[in-house]
Amino acid sequence: MEIIKCRDYDAMSIRAAQIFEEVVNAKPDCVLGLATGSTPLGLYKKLIEDHKAGKIDFSRCTSVNLDEYVGLGENDDQSYRYFMNTNLFDHINIDKAKTFVPNGLESDAYRACRDYEDILEKVGPQDIQVLGLGENGHIAFNEPETYFPKETHCVDLTESTIEANARFFENPDKVPRHAYSMGIGSIFRAKKIILLASGVKKSRALAEALYGPIIPQLPASILQLHSDVVVVCDDAALK
Ligand code: F6R
Repeated sequence: MEIIKCRDYDAMSIRAAQIFEEVVNAKPDCVLGLATGSTPLGLYKKLIEDHKAGKIDFSRCTSVNLDEYVGLGENDDQSYRYFMNTNLFDHINIDKAKTFVPNGLESDAYRACRDYEDILEKVGPQDIQVLGLGENGHIAFNEPETYFPKETHCVDLTESTIEANARFFENPDKVPRHAYSMGIGSIFRAKKIILLASGVKKSRALAEALYGPIIPQLPASILQLHSDVVVVCDDAALK
């Protein structure tokens, strides 16, 4: 595991974009594994800038996202599909038909998860997977548990995650209680993983993920076992 400690959030985003661009430029038809949330916003902004400056071409890329809230569709401004469209896809030349997010409007959880695993299988492994880190150590929506879920599954979000994500909703009651999320096995298929962490709120989870025991109660700790993980974080997240 390589750890790159940056001065601040902006420096972290620029460094992450460089790594990302190396992968896309080396393999123009690569599969991008993408995350939502506040952390990758700076990375996406930089990718958009660099795309507009002609430094990166997404026309042959495919993307797969980590997760989606159950019950929310692409027209819902809190859905992760909406987030990806507005914060990245609408501003770059990726073919939207080749961008995949779990289907939050499929109420049959078994079918939603199986369909997403089929998509992951069909498009092939992510050449690069971006991950944010939950304050409770979650990656995607793999919440602290007694086991590591392998495939895409339906998650009961924890109170801590609901509270952390309430900032995006009008009121905490509107935060969905369930999400479809890639499992650890789905994430581990990625050839390269970039874990992003910024701010003091992530410092406990990051320290435990990097240096603690590998336990499902701290899902990100499993990343210690992946063969190509780059942690790009800022000073505040890594004391
Ligand atoms: C989002 C996701 C989550 C977030 C994590 C951190 O697709 O899978 O694991 O990466 O909750 O969220 P932020 O970046 O908002 O602190």
